[in-house]
Amino acid sequence: MVRFFTAGESHGQGLVIIIEGVPAGLSISEDYIGVHLGRRQKGYGRGGRMLIEQDRAKIISGVRHGHTLGSPIGMTLENKDWANWEEAMAVDPLDGPPESPRTRRITRLRPGHADLPGAMKYGFEDVRNVLERASARETAGRVAAGAIAIKLLEEFGIQIHSHVLSIGTVHASAPENIDWAAVEESPVRCADPDAALKMAAAIDAAKEAGDTIGGTCEIIAENVPIGLGSHVSWDRKIDAQVAQALMSINAVKAVSIGPGWEIADQLGSQVQDVILPVTDPDHPWQRATNKLGGTEGGMTNGMPLVTQFAIKPIATMVTPLPSVDLDTGEEVLAHFERSDVCQAPPACVVGEAMVALVLADAFMEKFGGDSIPETRRNFDGYVKTVGPRKIYQ
Ligand SMILES: Cc1cc2nc3c(=O)[nH]c(=O)nc-3n(C[C@H](O)[C@H](O)[C@H](O)COP(=O)(O)O)c2cc1C
Repeated sequence: MVRFFTAGESHGQGLVIIIEGVPAGLSISEDYIGVHLGRRQKGYGRGGRMLIEQDRAKIISGVRHGHTLGSPIGMTLENKDWANWEEAMAVDPLDGPPESPRTRRITRLRPGHADLPGAMKYGFEDVRNVLERASARETAGRVAAGAIAIKLLEEFGIQIHSHVLSIGTVHASAPENIDWAAVEESPVRCADPDAALKMAAAIDAAKEAGDTIGGTCEIIAENVPIGLGSHVSWDRKIDAQVAQALMSINAVKAVSIGPGWEIADQLGSQVQDVILPVTDPDHPWQRATNKLGGTEGGMTNGMPLVTQFAIKPIATMVTPLPSVDLDTGEEVLAHFERSDVCQAPPACVVGEAMVALVLADAFMEKFGGDSIPETRRNFDGYVKTVGPRKIYQ
């Protein structure tokens, strides 16, 4: 079982990440994880925080001489701005009256953020106690854990990519073959250069208006073996697991696999992926199309896993919405704290991490093994049996 935890507040000393269940012998480095953390930090429409972050995860356990040990991998991600938050986020009680304006209580609730339900649920009088953990800073920890999952999957030929499909009302037209290197270079992670320019303009317009803007993202996992997940129990279905993982990303409000909502408008003959006769023993079970996005019956079907999600426009706005004060219940303007204008491009990278963590877990459930060579033996043995029964058994 591959599972992970993160701990840490947005402006605390840092994030702590533990990922468990990775077999021994996987080559991994802080540099590799740093590449993925850097990809999350890019993106047109990101706020000032990105300029100070420059994330680098420090591996503190579970790796020796460049290879995993099979033990839990522990990482820390330092908050580079900690010096400015030492008093506001101090672990110990303050000795005297607060000196930093950052220590002041926050009581002006932001609609659309975790402020109000979090303050009620935990009985807080200071919204900072909620917003620090509700902040998407936590997703940097997911990307660090996800990088290790991606490395594990890469070892078995599985590749994960992501791109932005839309920002606001600007939609990219989907090219047949996506140039992933070009997507990495695109400031909005978009495969359609004309749409990318319009997306950047839409972000500028939202920023100019003191507003924020959302979007949709697509995550594609290629070379996923047939049979990850299971039809036998609701919580083992891979599509359900992917949906939960993506829905857990801050501000994600819709997830689909394959065609999503459109499927309800179509006839049965229009949506299934016809199975083609087997001609290549190394690549059995090809489909004429991949409309269903690579899952059937809660299992991967050997086609690319294609999933999309919609992310809502950010709740923290330079021109704040009318709101209410936590103390008095009277009308005020919502709190503003340094914030992004559009988070769709980095959300793609977080989405890759979440899909990778789900697939890595399902992969290890299916193939097991305590070391990479053992997992590989199990994987190769299974792949040999995956073909027409009378020919391959
Ligand atoms: C990569 C990323 C960056 C985000 N940046 C911000 C931000 O700068 N300001 C903000 O208010 N919300 C931001 N969010 C969204 C909030 O974290 C989220 O809306 C909030 O936690 C409330 O959760 P909910 O929208 O899922 O209900 C970001 C989300 C992601 C995925």
